[in-house]
Amino acid sequence: MPASKKERVFSGIQPSGNVHIGNYLGAIKRWVDEQDRFDNIFCIVDLHAITVPQDPKTLRNKIREVAALLLAAGINPQHSPVFVQSHISAHAELAWILNCITPMGWMERMIQYKEKSSANKERVSVGLFDYPALMAADILLYRTDLVPVGEDQQQHVELARDIAQRFNNTYGETFVLPKAVVPAQSSRIMGLDNPAKKMSKSSGGAKHAVSLLDSPKIIRAKIMSAATDSRNEIRFDATRPGIYNLLLIYEQFSARKRADIEREFSGKGYAELKNALADLLIRHLEPLQARYKELRSDERTIESIVRESAERIRPLAEKTLQTVKEKMGLG
Ligand code: TYM
Repeated sequence: MPASKKERVFSGIQPSGNVHIGNYLGAIKRWVDEQDRFDNIFCIVDLHAITVPQDPKTLRNKIREVAALLLAAGINPQHSPVFVQSHISAHAELAWILNCITPMGWMERMIQYKEKSSANKERVSVGLFDYPALMAADILLYRTDLVPVGEDQQQHVELARDIAQRFNNTYGETFVLPKAVVPAQSSRIMGLDNPAKKMSKSSGGAKHAVSLLDSPKIIRAKIMSAATDSRNEIRFDATRPGIYNLLLIYEQFSARKRADIEREFSGKGYAELKNALADLLIRHLEPLQARYKELRSDERTIESIVRESAERIRPLAEKTLQTVKEKMGLG
């Protein structure tokens, strides 16, 4: 099939906190595994990151870190551009326009905003509230068909679709209606310290998440201390969230059948499962970490990859923005 006939995939990741195995299983691994089937664009969303306070030096470094991680995980930038959101100003510009056609009520229903602002509504930024409009702009600028994300972002993608539909109804067919693609099993990896909470970059204690760049020693320590239960029976049982989460991670990294995994650990204790999971993670992350180190030793290459990626896709974004402006009578 010629490249232009493939469906367009767009997805993004924030350069804040440490990228963890939840991000990897819910998003990055699938971007890599399926990249040949689609016409992809991947974005490091630094404008989203500043919806909460960021230290400028750390942010700049994190942008490069995430770029190198995506490449180390196997994204081929020749085929799938990896760019930095703030390098293409059409994102911010379209976000403003979409703000003006999006009802407040739609935004107020966003679960992530409610969760993130519940502690202190007075102090969170307007940007945090408006986050989904910028995300809609990201997606709609590139005539995206499919948006592979974890479950926590599904509602935002559905909102992007609703905004696109509303624009099309008002101004005539303009945007492609995007669809979220959420993995069946790994859409919501839970925290190791508290399996009732989603594994997250921005919250949780020292033993909450395995980061892609953790050393073998740290990986083992985190997995060994993961919260389980007192049953000592190793089965895929969603009513026992701690052990279920560990088994799910094991299943995803080993690509083995559930029955096969249950057979292997039948009659064994949690410590054995945890040790085997730690071995598996260490084995999987080692080559990624080695490639990451190599990439980071040559900052200029990373820089030129993200810059060239932006140059390649900028015309697409500008064309969409221009159409939108014309339809609305701007300028
Ligand atoms: P971010 O940076 O929080 O997360 C990146 C991707 O990882 C997924 N994810 C998870 N998947 C499974 N289990 C978890 N515990 C877990 N935690 C995170 C997320 O769902 C996401 O797919 N708003 C987005 C970034 C974004 C974006 C976009 C995505 C901005 N514009 C346009 C798609 C399209 C975010 O904060 O992702």
